[in-house]
Amino acid sequence: MKIRISNKKEQTEIENIHKSAFEKTDMNIRLETKNDYTQVEELTREAFWNLYFPGCNEHYLCHRLRGHKDFISELDYVVELDGKIVTSIMYTHSYLINNDEETVQTVSFGPLCVHPDYQRKGLGSALIEKTKSLVANMGVPAIIIYGDPHNYCKHGFKNGIDYQVSDMDGEYPLGLLVLELQPGFFGDKKWKIMQSDAYNIDQNEADEFDKRFQEKEKKFHHNQELFKMNIRAYLKHDS
Ligand SMILES: CC(C)(COP(=O)(O)OP(=O)(O)OC[C@H]1O[C@@H](n2cnc3c(N)ncnc32)[C@H](O)[C@@H]1OP(=O)(O)O)[C@@H](O)C(=O)NCCC(=O)NCCS
Repeated sequence: MKIRISNKKEQTEIENIHKSAFEKTDMNIRLETKNDYTQVEELTREAFWNLYFPGCNEHYLCHRLRGHKDFISELDYVVELDGKIVTSIMYTHSYLINNDEETVQTVSFGPLCVHPDYQRKGLGSALIEKTKSLVANMGVPAIIIYGDPHNYCKHGFKNGIDYQVSDMDGEYPLGLLVLELQPGFFGDKKWKIMQSDAYNIDQNEADEFDKRFQEKEKKFHHNQELFKMNIRAYLKHDS
């Protein structure tokens, strides 16, 4: 068995495989348009609500990212199913800096989400695979994200420590994940990843933005404790 990045010619075939997983075949993977903004924010709010802490900020992040200089509109994809947007992915530029002080542009995604009613049906995977090959065809050497490893190892992501890619403090957070698109790109160099400042949000602004949406109960869930552990977990080199 050989796992590799799909090429441009295989795109339609891959999309058809994902489509065939659904009884109805009117699944449409397409770029987000202005008319979708509210629907995408509502979907994102539903998917992340009470997931990491009571409430969520990701719908505000969608709004903020779209107007940011690092936002990559060519990778702003949605999945539409039966006329309803059920999945969304957004990308930004990020920057790798190595120990020779060279800077290389990479990309990062997030938020990525699937409406709770449509999760575990392969839609999240479909958007990752679709955009992954677009990024590879753009000549970008790697996708670097912060996320739950459980969701991404199956797509080829590894922890940053395996490529000597750390955060700007030189540490290897559990959730710092790297997908190498050009084999051998990282070599023996040490790298630091600088994410876009688009992800630094002001909580008051996020709370204010949330008032535009229907009121929803903020609740504690024990899984939020797991998230608090994960974001304080770091990997260390062996020995
Ligand atoms: C995380 C998320 C984006 C994944 O998208 P998804 O469409 O639910 O994921 P997929 O269906 O592509 O894959 C998820 C699982 O479903 C399984 N799966 C895929 N198709 C399936 C099917 N037809 N039947 C049963 N399981 C299926 C996959 O094998 C995978 O299993 P595993 O991870 O437990 O091994 C989505 O669940 C989500 O939006 N969650 C809330 C927000 C979030 O956490 N975002 C990511 C932040 S890091």
